[in-house]
Amino acid sequence: MGHLVLGPDALLRALRPGDADELALAANDREIWRNLRDGFPRPYTRADAERWISYNEQLALPLNFAIVLDQHVVGGVGLVPGHDVHRHSAEIGYWLARAVWGRGLATRAVGAMVRHGFDTLGFVRLHAGVFAWNPASARVLEKNEFVLEGTMRKWALKDGHYVDAWAYARVRD
Ligand SMILES: CC(C)(COP(=O)(O)OP(=O)(O)OC[C@H]1O[C@@H](n2cnc3c(N)ncnc32)[C@H](O)[C@@H]1OP(=O)(O)O)[C@@H](O)C(=O)NCCC(=O)NCCS
Repeated sequence: MGHLVLGPDALLRALRPGDADELALAANDREIWRNLRDGFPRPYTRADAERWISYNEQLALPLNFAIVLDQHVVGGVGLVPGHDVHRHSAEIGYWLARAVWGRGLATRAVGAMVRHGFDTLGFVRLHAGVFAWNPASARVLEKNEFVLEGTMRKWALKDGHYVDAWAYARVRD
């Protein structure tokens, strides 16, 4: 699997064993964890990063990518395929190191992942549940033509709170 180019300064690429330190450094942040599923470790140690990298090395499909800015791993973006009657769809997830928030990088990463998900992997529907305390993530999806389909009430138990989530999806034309 080649790189997905995001511009002159950034790309998406497969994780490599040498990424563990940068990955753990970028991911070990409560404000990132708070907006993701509990499967995302907290704290996020070097061992967690190594496990994630090894897991991805044996995946049959290229589902998860490192977000690389100026040659450094600063985040991740990935797809979780659905099963059974949902096998044409996938959940999209993404996160970035706090130091690089607010410069449009997640928007570019999600855009590239949408193209990958539709054109290379053949999914027809991509979706995300965004905790209702996370408007920045909703904005990233809206800038990528995801549509708000509704609000899922008390959708998650996160960080000790039952939290509503916005259901966003984009379908292939
Ligand atoms: C959500 C996240 C990926 C956004 O990354 P980013 O690179 O800063 O996002 P972008 O710069 O591409 O876009 C952010 C948009 O949200 C807007 N935004 C930021 N904070 C906001 C807020 N509190 N309310 C409304 N909009 C907000 C920005 O202005 C920008 O929109 P604009 O381009 O129209 O101005 C990043 O904050 C993150 O990693 N958060 C923790 C993990 C996470 O939430 N993952 C998604 C789970 S669904």
